[in-house]
Amino acid sequence: MALTDFDLVLFGGSGDLAMRKLLPAMYARDVANDLPPTARIICVGRQDSGQDAFLKMVETNSRPHIKASTLNAATWSKFCARIVYVSLNASDAATYAPLVEALRGDADLTRVYYLATPPHLFALICDNLEDNGLVTPNSRVVLEKPLGRDLASAKQINAEVGKVFQESQIYRIDHYLGKETVQNLLALRFGNILFEPLWRREWISDVQITIAEKLGVGNRMGYYDTSGALRDMLQNHLLQLLCIVAMEPPTSIAPDAVRDEKLQVLRSLKKFTPTTLAQNIVRGQYRAGHVDGATVPSYRDEPDAPEHSRTETFVALKAEIDTWRWAGVPFYLRTGKRMADSLAEIVVRFKQIPHSIFNQPTSSFQPNCLVIRLQPDEGLRMNLMAKTPGDGMRLKPAELELDFRESFKTPRMDAYERLLLDVLRGQLTLFMRGDELEAAWEWVEPILDNWEQNDSAPIPYTAGTWGPAAASALIGRDGLQWREEALPED
Ligand code: BG6
Repeated sequence: MALTDFDLVLFGGSGDLAMRKLLPAMYARDVANDLPPTARIICVGRQDSGQDAFLKMVETNSRPHIKASTLNAATWSKFCARIVYVSLNASDAATYAPLVEALRGDADLTRVYYLATPPHLFALICDNLEDNGLVTPNSRVVLEKPLGRDLASAKQINAEVGKVFQESQIYRIDHYLGKETVQNLLALRFGNILFEPLWRREWISDVQITIAEKLGVGNRMGYYDTSGALRDMLQNHLLQLLCIVAMEPPTSIAPDAVRDEKLQVLRSLKKFTPTTLAQNIVRGQYRAGHVDGATVPSYRDEPDAPEHSRTETFVALKAEIDTWRWAGVPFYLRTGKRMADSLAEIVVRFKQIPHSIFNQPTSSFQPNCLVIRLQPDEGLRMNLMAKTPGDGMRLKPAELELDFRESFKTPRMDAYERLLLDVLRGQLTLFMRGDELEAAWEWVEPILDNWEQNDSAPIPYTAGTWGPAAASALIGRDGLQWREEALPED
């Protein structure tokens, strides 16, 4: 669907997200000729540096994040001509005049306010936009994470933003939903007859969802130390993936059809009690170690880290979904920084065959396993048992593989490209609704409260490993292993 003309306003326009992700994403769509000729990107910042200095900043900080093969002088200057820099103090309505002046008055024009700012500014900015008469029926607002830090703050954001914008105008971003393989999971589940009949407790033994990063906290300590892995990754990205795996078939791909089903999953997650929490959650913090052959410091020795920080950089937990479809099927979720590898994947393990007709015991059969790989290489892998060639009848594990890059040569989009296009088109399916956000926080909150009340510290783990041994023990108690532990050594 072609985009109609728009003014995209980036609050936090000189910040890290705008420079690294949002402007490069808009550039990529410009090069692909998706943007109407007169569409503009209005970057809002505090500094009164002026247009030229801002464009220089874009050149230095944003251009290096653009694919070199798409860059040339003509496309770059066409893109820069769309950018308008506006300086104001986002929390002071009296300073909004330059924005009022920069926005075009045309009532048909789509206006998008993208709030890539700390969440305490969301309500203020919305009020200030309204006070200045800048919220039109064609306006939309995009909220970047963190969307609160607990249930109360999430509710407050929803309530306050909701006073100015209708729910249908609010786009809560979780960039994992913009990843190609996540949408492919919908295609896999609901575009094939094969999986849905098996997609339930009778046939699936367990599900693992891992997002592991080799990266440390880098220069984000100010944010990260007040957040931690549970808030930064699990409450949003991992729970969203879990929803897509576990939801009932929606009646269509329409926003509320999908979001209603995701909400049901979040509401069916079994709540943790202090006892189940102690047994089923492991939190860790990295210590010095080696990643890719280089020595990396301990979390507590990273720049600006509090000396005795108890912030977790790793969390693993066992979740359960109380529904007919999933009762008794454990969902193991895990995420961490400074891990042995950078990967994001969903592993659906099916049950063991009930009986072996071959001359080998049932225990020698590797249960079928579907691996949905989000990154680094996007694809699907199905583990099967197959006969080894030659005489006799000996079965061994084999793999069916679908590499999305190999199979589909069409150009790919970064998650932010896809999501920005959806905002500009008014397509809400890949964005969280307010009640989903609150349900996710509601489930996570007892964990946060428990950690705060009980004085225990996260378990240290060596950087460059798969996290604390307790995480292996957590899944090991159920007679299982994390996937990489189950892989044979090469
Ligand atoms: C962000 C987190 O939401 O996701 C970061 O704040 C994390 O801490 C990032 O590094 C991971 O995203 P991706 O797309 O690189 O896997």
